[in-house]
Amino acid sequence: MTNITLTLGDITDQSVDAVVNAANSSLLGGGGVDGAIHRRGGPEILEECRALRAAQYGGGLPAGQAVATTAGRLPAGWVIHTVGPVWSDTEDRSATLASCYRESLRVADELGARTVAFPAISTGVYRWPLRDAARIALTTVRDTDTRTVTEARFVLFGQEAYDAFAEVWKGLQQAH
Ligand code: APR
Repeated sequence: MTNITLTLGDITDQSVDAVVNAANSSLLGGGGVDGAIHRRGGPEILEECRALRAAQYGGGLPAGQAVATTAGRLPAGWVIHTVGPVWSDTEDRSATLASCYRESLRVADELGARTVAFPAISTGVYRWPLRDAARIALTTVRDTDTRTVTEARFVLFGQEAYDAFAEVWKGLQQAH
């Protein structure tokens, strides 16, 4: 059973075994979490991302999948890059968003990670509404069996995101 915690802060400050990156399919960096991780983590991360592109992800990392690299200078062992779905109000992409969390936990288990920090995937540039993203994130992590992972720490970058996750998590705990 993974213990879920919520933290208001910057994911690049977290001393955990694995930090999950809200990447884009190119794996070549971007803004938001992606930008912060590459900026703070340094060039080794991008070097390994490039190698992944050259090796098995020539067409980029598909949405919903996850892959690990070094964490470079971050206070973490690894970065797990996952690509969230872009919000659509005509197509239900919830399963892809859930897959980001499930696959990140699977990769974390493969690495033998015990603590994993998650951002609120897809809720920035990809415009997914916070509360719905929180519901998908929290239920998926709660319901995914893990081998070595014992803590999933959601790191929310602003009070609005923190409050949304806290409210949804409170509701899920009462209902469960
Ligand atoms: N620590 C924790 N959370 C952060 C940080 C940070 N340093 N910076 C931003 N966030 C939050 C945002 O406020 C948002 O709630 O992470 C959430 C995800 O936002 P984005 O980083 O924009 O990610 P996403 O919506 O999944 O879009 C991914 O954006 O940066 C590009 O290359 C990336 O193309 C990809 C797209």
